[in-house]
Amino acid sequence: MSEAAIVVEGLTKTFAGRGRDARPVEALRGIDLSVRRGTVLGVLGPNGAGKTTAVRILTTLLQPTAGRATVEGHDVVRDAAAVRSVIGLAGQSTAIVDELSGRENLEMVGRLHHLGKPGAAARAGELLEQFDLVDAGERMAKTYSGGLLRRLDLAASLVAHPAVLFLDEPTTGLDPRSRLAMWDVIRNLVAGGTTLLLTTQYLDEADELADEIVVIDRGQVIAAGTSEELKGRIGGDVVEFVVPDGSRIAAAVDAVEPLGESRPTVESDSGLVSVRVGARGSEALVETVRRLDAAGISSVGLALRRPSLDDVFLALTGHAADDTSDSEGVSP
Ligand SMILES: Nc1ncnc2c1ncn2[C@@H]1O[C@H](COP(=O)(O)OP(=O)(O)O)[C@@H](O)[C@H]1O
Ligand SMILES: [Mg+2]
Repeated sequence: MSEAAIVVEGLTKTFAGRGRDARPVEALRGIDLSVRRGTVLGVLGPNGAGKTTAVRILTTLLQPTAGRATVEGHDVVRDAAAVRSVIGLAGQSTAIVDELSGRENLEMVGRLHHLGKPGAAARAGELLEQFDLVDAGERMAKTYSGGLLRRLDLAASLVAHPAVLFLDEPTTGLDPRSRLAMWDVIRNLVAGGTTLLLTTQYLDEADELADEIVVIDRGQVIAAGTSEELKGRIGGDVVEFVVPDGSRIAAAVDAVEPLGESRPTVESDSGLVSVRVGARGSEALVETVRRLDAAGISSVGLALRRPSLDDVFLALTGHAADDTSDSEGVSP
């Protein structure tokens, strides 16, 4: 079998416009992507970019207008039932029954997946352990906080051991602590070998969890690569340090020049030396210390400046990721 668990080619979705003489909405305008088995793809984009539309098509809940997609080799339109048998889906809207306890919810999902009563009970027990829900598991779901509910929903999506998991904005609306707890849970899942497609509008979340990132904006892929590659595209990391002894600046520049992608720049007033080091900032930082030390040059304020994914988004699109204004609708 191929290495790719998810393959998407030219995927297009146009929704009929809502209301009288409303224009059709091109939610997806031909996106391509693939996800290697056992890896995490982060689909990063602002509100309205088309993330949920893509996830709904890949999980067989919505038909594409054009293009094709396969999950574990099964076509999402022609072999929808086969796709459903290998996937799990969790996201912002949960499919949890309020009036049941956490444990009962998981058992119910197990029964729906034909695990049988003992099988469903055993699986529920395992998942409550894995998601740190053992205590909460006996309480009715309607008493759960947002963070607990998200975790229970994620546990429910895993009952049948899906090979491929889709998480649509798993931490949107969570407080910072619940968000970090969710990240831990997701990391553990991935360590267990699950292939994951995760959508997010949080640049740091994609950075933290994803092996590869696809940036989408207004229904199109505008960039793809690792977080480091994306950051590299806008100039990459910069190692900076100050050489207080002005007579030693030239020697410092010579010492670190091999690490840079171009000749280091110097602010002569302050003695600030800046070295563009591409995507290998941490290594370059360590190497800078070693080289300055070997040359007997003392420096202060050694630091690594890394672009954030926010910088990447702005550089690629000309607008900030949280700018939801529709440029077509705004008069100049
Ligand atoms: N059922 C629908 N009918 C019409 N337009 C829709 C429908 N679902 C989504 N859209 C539109 O498609 C675009 C992409 O939406 P969505 O995929 O939900 O984006 P995201 O999940 O990235 O926020 C938006 O402009 C949205 O208003
Ligand atoms: Mg969405």
